[in-house]
Amino acid sequence: MTEAILLVGGKGTRLRPVTVNTPKPMVRAAGVPFLTHQLARAAAAGVEHVVLATSYLAEVFEPHFGDGSALGLHLEYVTEREPLGTGGAIRNAATRLRSGADEPVLVFNGDILTGLDIRALVRTHAAGGADVSLHLTRVADPRAYGLVPTDATGRVTAFLEKPQTPEEIVTDQINAGCYVFRRSVIDTIPAGRPVSVERETFPDLLAAGAHLQGMVDSTYWLDLGTPEAFVRGSADLVLGRAPSPAVPGRCGDRLVLPSAVVAADAKLTGGTVVGEGARVAGGARISGSTILPGAVVRPGAVITDSLVGARAHVGERTVLTGAVIGDGAFVGPDNELRAGTRIWCDARIPAGAVRFSSDVA
Ligand code: GDD
Ligand code: MG
Repeated sequence: MTEAILLVGGKGTRLRPVTVNTPKPMVRAAGVPFLTHQLARAAAAGVEHVVLATSYLAEVFEPHFGDGSALGLHLEYVTEREPLGTGGAIRNAATRLRSGADEPVLVFNGDILTGLDIRALVRTHAAGGADVSLHLTRVADPRAYGLVPTDATGRVTAFLEKPQTPEEIVTDQINAGCYVFRRSVIDTIPAGRPVSVERETFPDLLAAGAHLQGMVDSTYWLDLGTPEAFVRGSADLVLGRAPSPAVPGRCGDRLVLPSAVVAADAKLTGGTVVGEGARVAGGARISGSTILPGAVVRPGAVITDSLVGARAHVGERTVLTGAVIGDGAFVGPDNELRAGTRIWCDARIPAGAVRFSSDVA
């Protein structure tokens, strides 16, 4: 039986205000909590038992996913009283594993959308006899990630988390946030204190001569840790560019959840999703955006690459481009919010209060 630990305890700071009321893995992407996609993909790869390592807003996971049987999984929840960091969370969650000392255990970061062949990673791990195998991907700008140079055989030679100086940027290969550990290696992580798997465990293992093996894979990969990436990931799920068995409907230009109400002449494109109970009025144009449950989009609003929070309101003719509107916020008519604007939860923006251009809408 294959077991996995899913790390879902982070505060989701870079995604605020989306994560003020909801932990990052529970924010809806393509109509369901993002975590659903990861769990469904794990189940499809033959994983049977998943331990969720929770901390921030830990109480919301179990009421939604229960024992996991709806997804064909056996789910357990382990909550840290104080956040233990990625390595501490893995060690803490391992108390629920049943695997023997030499068996493989999968570990996933809880904010990764990827087409990784999970079975292939486990097979590579078993065949190569590594202590830990890591999924690696290549990115144009690796600075926000863990850099993982390897030798000609794929063996990891160093692990440099979030490099600070140009000299440290020795590769474009990064840690893609999915590992296979030999169970006994997890048991060597110190218990009861915060540990970063990236800054402490991996460098220590390398220094001790352990065998860490990288598997570079160029399939779809995205860390949904920023608003821009989250909106992109949700749209890619709707469009079918990012694979998930959990998208609630047919993939295409748009996804409208059954209880949403969308006017006939509203235009939804580019992987836009309209969540449960949300309303989109006539003449609205929404592209590549996530409209969360219960939100209201008024006539003539133009929303591009943006996220509109639960029960938020976007007024007539208001333009949103690359913007995030927090849960319950009210944006009056004739506003223009662009380029990374974040409106906090429950804030009120009066009519015509914010503009980026001098013309009148
Ligand atoms: N349970 C628990 N406790 N989970 C945690 C904690 C904690 O104290 N801290 C972080 N996590 C979880 C987050 O919820 C997330 O799912 C995962 O660990 C990674 O944390 P992020 O905050 O998303 O890290 P990152 O994106 O900056 O960097 C990580 O991911 C990159 C790939 O996206 C690192 O693993 C990098 O090396 C990697 O390249
Ligand atoms: Mg992340």
